[in-house]
Amino acid sequence: VHWTAEEKAFITSTWAKVNVEADGHEALCRLLVVYPWTQRYFSSFGNLSNVTAISGNAKVKAHGKKVLTAVGSAIQHIDDVKHYLADLSKSHAQELHVDPENFKRLTEVMVIVFAGKLGSSFTPQVQAAWEKFNAVLVAALSHGYF
Ligand code: HEM
Repeated sequence: VHWTAEEKAFITSTWAKVNVEADGHEALCRLLVVYPWTQRYFSSFGNLSNVTAISGNAKVKAHGKKVLTAVGSAIQHIDDVKHYLADLSKSHAQELHVDPENFKRLTEVMVIVFAGKLGSSFTPQVQAAWEKFNAVLVAALSHGYF
């Protein structure tokens, strides 16, 4: 994947405004509410029976931060995301048995969260850079399935 300097700048400038804890929490809550079948992977998290339970669940909060922190680290390795995320991909494939379709769903809710947060500064060009990054992220996380 080739990244232009402008695309990299769009990604890093968005990331500078991201709060991994709050935004990670919102993204994971949205995933669990909008795509409820994703709840099945988090049976160890306890009560996820409704929106209030999901958004008040401390494990959801902690995990959202973990996920966005991993996205932030992948941005630091933007030219080699596939190798950087190889172990995480393997664990999602072989231990967690996550259907890789769900990676795409998570990147979609991430875009919604960023758009809501950045408002008019989440321009079409910024979104385009994120759609490209998310495709790279999804491909990297899906790589361990093959
Ligand atoms: C665990 C990242 C998508 C289900 C993890 C961990 C990270 C992570 C960093 C912790 C691994 C560790 O502690 O060694 C990501 C990233 C994703 C993603 C960056 C996409 C951008 C998903 C999706 C699902 C999922 C879509 C399911 C729908 C899980 C589960 C765990 C986990 C069940 C274990 C949770 C626990 O028991 O603590 N993920 N993940 N992940 N992930 Fe993902």
